[in-house]
Amino acid sequence: MSLSLADWLAAQSVDPALTSALASMAASCAEIAVVLRNAPLAGQTGLAGHTNVQGEAQKALDVISNDIVLNHLRANPQISILISEEMDEAVHHENQGRFIVATDPLDGSSNLDVNVTVGTIFSILDAKGGILQPGSAQLAAGYAAYGPATSLVLTLGKGVAVFTLDASGTFRFTTDTVSVPEASSEFAINTARERFWDEATRGYVAENIAGETGAAGKRYNMRWVGSMVADIHRILMRGGIFLYPLDSETLAKGGRLRLLYEANPMAMLIEAAGGRSTTGRQRILDLTPSAIHQRVPVILGSAEEVKRVEDWYNRVS
Ligand code: AHG
Ligand code: MN
Ligand code: MN
Repeated sequence: MSLSLADWLAAQSVDPALTSALASMAASCAEIAVVLRNAPLAGQTGLAGHTNVQGEAQKALDVISNDIVLNHLRANPQISILISEEMDEAVHHENQGRFIVATDPLDGSSNLDVNVTVGTIFSILDAKGGILQPGSAQLAAGYAAYGPATSLVLTLGKGVAVFTLDASGTFRFTTDTVSVPEASSEFAINTARERFWDEATRGYVAENIAGETGAAGKRYNMRWVGSMVADIHRILMRGGIFLYPLDSETLAKGGRLRLLYEANPMAMLIEAAGGRSTTGRQRILDLTPSAIHQRVPVILGSAEEVKRVEDWYNRVS
């Protein structure tokens, strides 16, 4: 039987305090997996009846997942601050905990009622740095993807490891040879937003659609699950590029996806697996946040593709 997550972390000599923080996140994800599996029978699908700080209608499962993470992290003396998509303010625990956890407890919740993969994303930071640290300061980042299998995908900076939830509720080591291929011919973007796109996004996507007859000189395929976790998991496993660029409709908000608990952890994972991440104009991990729910443009994946998008942004200045 392959190593449990706990044994794997011990074998890597990961700091016990950080191991404990990761164990709390893993326990949260294992519990959320069970809730999701049974939700249609438990009558837990549908809306919760309120909106979160971002003005989005919360699903019952958004709230339940947030409570599960909150309960696990509150019980862990190593964690002093929790930031969640579903909570207006950062929650401060009365302890000397060394870590901040930022989380999107349930990503892709618009896919819940159609039984499509959703996920939990998390980022772990040193509490000494305060709540507004750049992504480059993350100590660890990961997500759980609740798909046909529940995968926990984790980076501590170098390399990315994948664990699979077994029937007993333990995450077991599956692989640590995750590498985002440099070249790819698969892109992920919500093309229904084309009329809002900027020149760089239009230029890049038009080249891809032109395939072997255009400047890219090869044929592309398009995939968009609409769960960032599912789209990024595919890209980590076989390459590709994910774009949620700044467009005329999201301009005022700064983008669609959130920096602290969506863009930063995913950028850390992608870079740790050899890929690249940018807003179009800047490396995501270099951004200094100004607010916990700050939004940013997100472009990440196979290095060659991300560089092509960056070239477009340079050209249109
Ligand atoms: P969340 O469910 O946490 O609000 O996040 C949804 C995000 C992300 O998962 C996905 O990539 C994107 O929103 C989908 O956006 P569209 O609705 O524009 O497709
Ligand atoms: Mn999300
Ligand atoms: Mn969410």
